[in-house]
Amino acid sequence: MIRMALPKGRNLVPVLEALRAAGLELAGFDPERLRQRLPGDDLEILLLKDWDLPLYVEHGIADCGFVGTDVLEEVGSDLLRPLQLAKGRCRMSLIGMNPGLPSSGAQIRVATKYPRWSGRLLAGRMWGIEIVRLSGSVELGPLLDLAELAVDIVQTGRTLRDHNLHEIEQLAAIAPTLVLSRAAFQRHRVQLNELMACLEGAEVTAA
Ligand code: PRP
Repeated sequence: MIRMALPKGRNLVPVLEALRAAGLELAGFDPERLRQRLPGDDLEILLLKDWDLPLYVEHGIADCGFVGTDVLEEVGSDLLRPLQLAKGRCRMSLIGMNPGLPSSGAQIRVATKYPRWSGRLLAGRMWGIEIVRLSGSVELGPLLDLAELAVDIVQTGRTLRDHNLHEIEQLAAIAPTLVLSRAAFQRHRVQLNELMACLEGAEVTAA
């Protein structure tokens, strides 16, 4: 049996779809239960907050998991990332009230849930940056003048349209990603290789 960590957030639906397409039954799966055994698939599922998920895999508590590359880039985890899913992809973008980039030499506040990754993504710009860390509703930063710009996830673009915000620049692609620790891969090489082969065979992975 392997123990698999699934993210409670936006990636749960695409991950479940991919697992079912890959041949797992997930019979009796309950999205409300934090820990559950699925004997039909020889699997134990842990449902975790996206931000906590890498830690559980790094500590060997879960053998594998799925989480967005946004979380991995921000927390800087050292996990193996053997494949990404084709569905559930989105992007990290620079967002503002106006469509243009700041002028050279300007001092700009940037609201984000991803302070470390944003710092790296915006390194080398011709304007000075002060990162303003928020926990959510990042689009309110530029809307309410807490910050001139925001760095945040754009998927359908609906949030931007709803708030008359502009996607000034796409900074990075994001995808739900399978993560494993090296130790778990040694311990469960057969099952994990089989899982990866089934996902690839079902054509639910990104090229
Ligand atoms: C993200 C992001 C936007 C929204 C973008 O929030 O912060 O609010 O999704 O998606 P869209 O382009 O499809 O509208 P998320 O739901 O990940 O969580 P949050 O509200 O806690 O930041």
